[in-house]
Amino acid sequence: MPVAVVILAAGQGSRMKSNLPKVLHHVAHAPLLVHAMQSAQSIEAERIVVVTGHGGEAVGAAAQAYDPDAVIVTQSEQLGTAHAVQQAADALTDFDGDVVVLYGDTPFIQEDTLRRMLDARSNGSSVVVLGFEAAEPGRYGRLVTDADGGLDAIVEAKDATPEQLAITLCNSGVICADRAELFALIDAVGNDNASREYYLTDIVELARDKGDGCAAITCSEAETMGVNSRSDLAAADAAFQARVRAEVLENGVTMHAPGTVFFAYDTHVGRDAVIEANVVFGPAVTVESGALIRAFSHLEGCHVSQEAVVGPYARLRPGAEIGNGARVGNFVEIKSATIGEGAKVNHLSYVGDADVGDAANIGAGTITCNYDGVFKHKTVIGKRAFIGSNTALVAPVRVGDDAMTGSGSVITEDVPDEAMAISRAKQANKPGLALRLMNRLKAAKAAKNKDK
Ligand code: UD1
Ligand code: MG
Repeated sequence: MPVAVVILAAGQGSRMKSNLPKVLHHVAHAPLLVHAMQSAQSIEAERIVVVTGHGGEAVGAAAQAYDPDAVIVTQSEQLGTAHAVQQAADALTDFDGDVVVLYGDTPFIQEDTLRRMLDARSNGSSVVVLGFEAAEPGRYGRLVTDADGGLDAIVEAKDATPEQLAITLCNSGVICADRAELFALIDAVGNDNASREYYLTDIVELARDKGDGCAAITCSEAETMGVNSRSDLAAADAAFQARVRAEVLENGVTMHAPGTVFFAYDTHVGRDAVIEANVVFGPAVTVESGALIRAFSHLEGCHVSQEAVVGPYARLRPGAEIGNGARVGNFVEIKSATIGEGAKVNHLSYVGDADVGDAANIGAGTITCNYDGVFKHKTVIGKRAFIGSNTALVAPVRVGDDAMTGSGSVITEDVPDEAMAISRAKQANKPGLALRLMNRLKAAKAAKNKDK
């Protein structure tokens, strides 16, 4: 059965105390909304409709930046969750299949959970709701079940009787129903309740009144975690990290201190890679099999090939492409640069906008001077080239294959293949001068002290 997903993201999120719409706050370097969209993609949703309201333009743009096919609809007044879903009706009139409703501020709903809901739908339940056992049921809607475990109604806390408030099985907000059925039920929802809102939750009772069966599927409370405040956001990040660390270990990656490694929503680490302590991944990083990322390294927008060694204390910025078996050592920054197979940049260097050939050796303190204040320029370093320590490569410049530069050189012109370039003042030794100079200084100091 084809599936469409409607993501509710019109709320303001005033408890975030932010100028940014709530769903655009990041967990693991992706907006909350993108996490919800990833849940939708995990069940191969044929259509994703995002309902926007507060900060609608920015929210719509973020959704389409992640998935250009996402359909954006506007809910100009927030009249309740049923009213929010209703805004997606037009975008789905031609869609035949099940519709799953997710919240943009609830980032961690798992594929397996959604599939269990869809299974319950194919087994004949008209409306399927995702519930969870709440440690503190508080203001969550309560799931009222019948003797056979079927779902009778969802009662909002504000409207509940004391007996209903004692129920601990709560509504996560995730609901699934057939498209035509869902919108027909929503049309019948009124706002005669404590909040004067159109509750999506009312569709359960409406379906039951027609004699249709409804069901609750459950998941852990952690999975349904929603974000309403900065402290929730921090807790969500921690929960994300805990889950992904476990997955990464499970996939055959070694981490000595997993609790100190921070992943992004899209980090890929191949099996038999080793990640030491205190490594931070920004977005868009792929680490291939067998690579070693040593302690205190920061990586974003980069690719580390097999058997490469990065760090300790390395910084790989967007566009860093580290070849097989290459080495990037301590206090080295690489940006928009390819480091060839087996090449070494071991100490204290900046390599930006550059191509470094296979097996080249970049000496300590080498700097590519890539920026003239307005434009960026490229440095090309040939295969097996040897760049002497503290060389400044003033781009655009090319150092040929098997070429060398002398330590401390400022290279402003291309160096031909196999040539040695030295560009620094010639050394002159003055015999005895050091001693004479020192004696003169000591005498001057003694004379000064005598005057006092
Ligand atoms: C809702 C459920 C409640 C459930 C709880 C789980 C209803 C009536 N209640 O309550 O049973 O336990 O979520 O967190 O559905 N939104 C819109 N437009 C609106 C209203 C809401 O887009 O007009 C969005 C919000 O931005 C949010 C989500 O829908 O992402 C839920 O809305 P919220 O106001 O948080 O609902 P709750 O009162 O928490
Ligand atoms: Mg809520």
